[in-house]
Amino acid sequence: MNELNNMRLSKIHLLWIKSIAIGVLIYLAAAGYILVSQGIFNIYFANKVFGWTAFFLVNLSMGLTSVGYLISRWRFVLGYRKYIGLVGFWSFVVHGLISLVLLQDEFPSPSYYLSSQQIWSTLASITAAGVMVVMIIASRDFMIKKLGSVNWRRILRLGYLVMVLVIIHFLAKNPVEPLKKLGLIFAAVIFLARVFLEIVIRIKYKNQPTGQNSKKIL
Ligand code: HEM
Repeated sequence: MNELNNMRLSKIHLLWIKSIAIGVLIYLAAAGYILVSQGIFNIYFANKVFGWTAFFLVNLSMGLTSVGYLISRWRFVLGYRKYIGLVGFWSFVVHGLISLVLLQDEFPSPSYYLSSQQIWSTLASITAAGVMVVMIIASRDFMIKKLGSVNWRRILRLGYLVMVLVIIHFLAKNPVEPLKKLGLIFAAVIFLARVFLEIVIRIKYKNQPTGQNSKKIL
């Protein structure tokens, strides 16, 4: 029994380590791009990059559902969704804290956040943060048991709402920057892949009127 628990624990450790490594790689790629394009990297840009890392990780975590179910050889990626999403959440926490605490000169609160140019971005970011907290609470083992897997999966679909809210949040300033274009393309690909997966599942279970099987899978 103990051996079984230890094996499960080391599997979870490995998922954490690999998910953090993916987060670090995304951070370094975005930081490298900013360093090359701006010629400077300070706390202001470091904060932007935490925001982008959070965005790409949350999107990636959602996108792995489609990859895992559409490509049977890649089914193993499904186990990464929770950990990549959690690393994305912590990257957002760092981004939020740096914005609110260390960058008071650039973003004085509350005047910056409540200005007419930023108010929608602020409302979207606060809602996104709240939804992410709900998703994390719902992903605790005891909550999954309490909710049942169908309801739990429904709650996790709120990740798509987070994607839309964060897009509203980052489009509030300089809408045409290349990183923003990349972010929009990435989110669109993930959304379309999910729509495609839904179509595949509906065709597969067309003959089962209740659709119960597809509910169990996703
Ligand atoms: C309490 C919640 C949040 C606060 C206070 C906050 C604060 C900010 C601020 C001040 C900016 C402007 C940065 C700049 O102009 O350099 C920004 C941009 C951004 N934020 Fe947030 N944010 C929050 C939530 C989030 C969340 C939940 C995500 C992603 C999951 C996120 C991702 C981004 C991205 C991608 C940008 C665009 C950076 C750019 O302009 O290149 N933020 N945020």
